[in-house]
Amino acid sequence: MSRSSAISADHKKVFEVPAGLDPLRMPDHIAVIMDGNGRWAKARGLPRIMGHRAGVEALKTTLRLCSDWGIGALTVYAFSTENWSRPGDEVNFLMALFERVLQRELESLQREEVCINFLGDLEALPERLQDLIAEATELTSTNEGIHFNVCTNYGGRRELVLAAQKLAERAAKGDLDPALIDENVFAAELFTSTEVDPDLLIRTSGERRISNFLLWQLAYAEIHVTDVLWPDFDASALTHALLDYQSRCRRFGGLDPIESDHLSS
Ligand code: FPP
Repeated sequence: MSRSSAISADHKKVFEVPAGLDPLRMPDHIAVIMDGNGRWAKARGLPRIMGHRAGVEALKTTLRLCSDWGIGALTVYAFSTENWSRPGDEVNFLMALFERVLQRELESLQREEVCINFLGDLEALPERLQDLIAEATELTSTNEGIHFNVCTNYGGRRELVLAAQKLAERAAKGDLDPALIDENVFAAELFTSTEVDPDLLIRTSGERRISNFLLWQLAYAEIHVTDVLWPDFDASALTHALLDYQSRCRRFGGLDPIESDHLSS
């Protein structure tokens, strides 16, 4: 694959990216709904859990590519609050898989300076997994590489309700004037309080839904839906998503620069 790179005007480190991509216009934060593991397995006559196993490999590849291409944060939807309604065997397999992968990959995450965080209602997870999460979070907390956020037992509505509860408690105690609650105060109570909002949401397997993912944070994200099933998501699929992102004109509710020039002349 040929590559391109550039030196930014403010002399920030600029990463080598696949040819065709502008290294100065990479998203700071990518969010991913990793969908299609079950269908990938079914298409091969395999049990669904094999799709989840293959999904882990796609996730490792994506994390490394994002890190190599200078993307600051990757947030993935690993297990939603609704996923508990899946068959017990599948839920147990996923919990055991999270444990195994975390244990196995912790050393390389640390070596590659990844800062890992788990976002969601973590208290409902098996205790052993909670311990591993606490260990990985603590160990990698000062790493200066990519922020890797794994949404586990995560629901966007639940996150908003929890934030509202925390603000209400502070107000009831007299620590917060309700009139001072603005978007910044609200966002500071979310699981993502230390992250910039995602610039790009990628959803695999062709579904065109947000599925209760990062409802607040995705307000202005560009959305890329691909038919690729998550286990098949690779460098070429990520490049495609980034090319799509870079082709968009982000207006954040305003006008694009050409339109505003027309109006003011
Ligand atoms: C959705 O596909 C995928 C999941 C619910 C699980 C995703 C989890 C991983 C890829 C493992 C991540 C591991 C770590 C340690 C973060 P689906 O089962 O809904 O697929 P389908 O729509 O084809 O049935």
